[in-house]
Amino acid sequence: MFRKVHHVGIVVRSLEAALDFYRDCLGLPVVRMAEVPDQGVRAALLASGESELELLEPTDPSTGVARFLAKRGEGLHHLCLETDDVAGELTRFGARGVPLIDRVPRPGLAGRIGFLHPEACAGVLVELATPTEARPPAAAPLGLCRVVVGTEDPVGLGERLQSLFGLPLQEINAGKRVQAEAGPVALLLVPADQAGGTQGMLALSLQTDDLAAAIARLEAGRRGFLRGAREITVEPASSHGVPLHISQP
Ligand code: CO
Repeated sequence: MFRKVHHVGIVVRSLEAALDFYRDCLGLPVVRMAEVPDQGVRAALLASGESELELLEPTDPSTGVARFLAKRGEGLHHLCLETDDVAGELTRFGARGVPLIDRVPRPGLAGRIGFLHPEACAGVLVELATPTEARPPAAAPLGLCRVVVGTEDPVGLGERLQSLFGLPLQEINAGKRVQAEAGPVALLLVPADQAGGTQGMLALSLQTDDLAAAIARLEAGRRGFLRGAREITVEPASSHGVPLHISQP
């Protein structure tokens, strides 16, 4: 059983610089911060709605996270789904022949965690987590509500996410776009050719009940953003490589 998006992982060059933006400018509270030697990262989890954003700074050049940063630069790295039973899910996926990085869970910032191989979900790196500590109460001014994913085959990836994780699907525009519901966060699967040919996670949408306050914080922090009708888009240069849409419903 997969309840929701636990977090979205973002690889950054400097955790301190990323905290200047995500914690101090956007106002997202830090839930947990630690060095995870096993994964070669310094990491922080910040509350955003019922999910979290995980900032990862590589500390060891031989790890996958460091190679990702060297090759792709800062940006969206992985999607973590919460389950009650990470060990059982990894065993079941292994028995079904789903490509895995971890066959047994290991300790991570989000609790007991394990990664599927990116081939399992059309290039999207998926982590599973069973939290071992309750999240401290933390009210965030911005809540994660949508992850946009580019793919050659939105219907195929949607059906894959449904088959692996039981996520309900909704087709939009006669199947040109597919939305998979992961608790309060929607995974919007769009054709890669509409997204500059890019595959994988492309952008995050955050909701706020006070867009004017979010704009004031961005202006005070001298962060670049574009204004739309009812939405702003933070420029990736300001948000450590993550196109970030902020709207007020
Ligand atoms: Co993670």
